[in-house]
Amino acid sequence: MKITVINGPNINMLGKRETNYYGDKTLEQINSMISELAAVLCVKVDFFQSNSEGEIIDCIHNTDSDGMLINPAAYSHTSIAIRDAISSVTIPAVEVHLSNIFGRDEFRHHSYVAPACIGQISGFGAGSYLLGLRALVEHIKGKKG
Ligand code: DQA
Repeated sequence: MKITVINGPNINMLGKRETNYYGDKTLEQINSMISELAAVLCVKVDFFQSNSEGEIIDCIHNTDSDGMLINPAAYSHTSIAIRDAISSVTIPAVEVHLSNIFGRDEFRHHSYVAPACIGQISGFGAGSYLLGLRALVEHIKGKKG
């Protein structure tokens, strides 16, 4: 089984960026935590980050993975195009957020992307990715029987 981990705009700035919301781990450190868990779960992972909406959409269209873990970042709150891209492929997606988007500015409370996903995890810092990966793998295994 292979999972693609997709991160949207400004996630490359983790470690320096608003650490009160996002913690002090860099994206590289989070990706190694994901890789460690993936090894335990016996799944392969690949990683993609882009600050451009179109590149994220192309990644979703072109992935040959069995599932996607996606932090669309600010595009969660604006992008019908990313939602449509997820809906246009048959593999499941889980949306994750480091911060609790429901405890922040009102414009962050709504995600356009979430309805196209099987579920959303928000507020556990880097742990959101790990919980999301576990949930996604369980979901795919359940479907495969
Ligand atoms: C975020 C939450 C978004 O509202 C914000 O725009 C981000 C990061 C998170 O992981 O908490 O860039 O997706």
